[in-house]
Amino acid sequence: MKQAKDQIRIGVVGAARRGGNFTDSLKALNVTMAAVCDTNNEVLQTCKAQMGAEQAFDDYQRMLDSCRLDAVLIATPMQFHARQAVAALERNVHVLSEVTAAISIDECRQLVKAGNQSKAIYMMAENYIYMRPNQFVRGLVKAGMFGEVYYAEGEYIHELKDLLEQTPWRLELNSHRGVPYPTHSLGPILSWMEGDRVERVCCEDSGSHHLDPRGKPYGCDSVVMLAKTRKNRLIKIRYDIVSDRPHSTANYQLQGTDGSYESARSEHERDKIWLRGVNADKNVWLDAQTLMMQEPYARHLPEGWRNPPEVLRYAGHGGGDYFVLKDFIAAIRGEIPCPIDIHKALDMTLPGLISQQSILNDGAWMNVPDSRQW
Ligand SMILES: NC(=O)c1ccc[n+]([C@@H]2O[C@H](COP(=O)([O-])OP(=O)(O)OC[C@H]3O[C@@H](n4cnc5c(N)ncnc54)[C@H](O)[C@@H]3O)[C@@H](O)[C@H]2O)c1
Repeated sequence: MKQAKDQIRIGVVGAARRGGNFTDSLKALNVTMAAVCDTNNEVLQTCKAQMGAEQAFDDYQRMLDSCRLDAVLIATPMQFHARQAVAALERNVHVLSEVTAAISIDECRQLVKAGNQSKAIYMMAENYIYMRPNQFVRGLVKAGMFGEVYYAEGEYIHELKDLLEQTPWRLELNSHRGVPYPTHSLGPILSWMEGDRVERVCCEDSGSHHLDPRGKPYGCDSVVMLAKTRKNRLIKIRYDIVSDRPHSTANYQLQGTDGSYESARSEHERDKIWLRGVNADKNVWLDAQTLMMQEPYARHLPEGWRNPPEVLRYAGHGGGDYFVLKDFIAAIRGEIPCPIDIHKALDMTLPGLISQQSILNDGAWMNVPDSRQW
């Protein structure tokens, strides 16, 4: 484990947008807001005041070189994540990077190299893993209540056409076919299948049925990636950010020999679970939200979710933004091993990059490199 520090001084880059979402959590965790950085000069001073930062920079390298930082939180567009992480790691500054870790295999390799040579830790901020239902399922799997887990589905179905216009970098990344943003679906599933990784993927899409405001077709609409893991498990990921439909965002399913889970697909539904050890009648779903409130099952939730701090009322993404940051701080202090280190981050990122190659090869199965071998 890396060296412990008392008061952690953090710099947030991409602070004017996503980075600012972490303000309440940063304050609750008593982190020193040493600096904010954003290339949008117009909002930089407002952002500095809102986040209570000591200094503001419009240049990331300058922030790294002139400000005494222990850690950076990278919340810039995905195209900057890897290079900004590498720059921090080279200076032994700890990194919490927004998803995804990188946008090319070459960048993934650079990240691993920098991580190996650095004294600092790297963590990817995959917050959906930390959401309460996903943590409950993880606890149940670890306790063996699903039996042998062998199948899972994850979906990111989030109509974002307006956001694609506001953030052209997203439009650019989504002009490539495949699954450019797999971590919110794959992340929780891999956290349930701990010790396993995706070895090969194949990917196809349903074509393009929607036009952007300039009349140009989007790269594709619904994309499905199938993944086989080292332990021979099957995972299906669906990704769609342009199809018109009611909001549902992230959906999950898990199947084991002794249990099954289906998350709610809208706020009008409930998460459903069947566990042989709770009810042997395999025709009856239980309400997972109710089950997680009842002893002895509630004990499968981590302590933070059983006695939630006040900040969880404000922390974004169902509290995931708070817990991801809390674990990052704990890992810097040496209290826990880094929970989403470079290799775990790449386990969630690389299948998406390879899916883009598969789709260009008529959906052929393709091997996903294991960054631990690099
Ligand atoms: N984990 C989640 O739930 C979640 C949710 C939303 C966004 N994100 C991630 O957060 C990141 C940012 O998303 P967003 O929607 O806020 O994007 P955005 O484009 O709205 O905001 C990015 C910000 O970064 C600034 N910026 C751009 N390039 C910069 C640079 N080189 N140096 C400093 N600042 C720079 C921009 O001025 C802008 O304020 C993305 O990687 C996205 O994938 C994650």
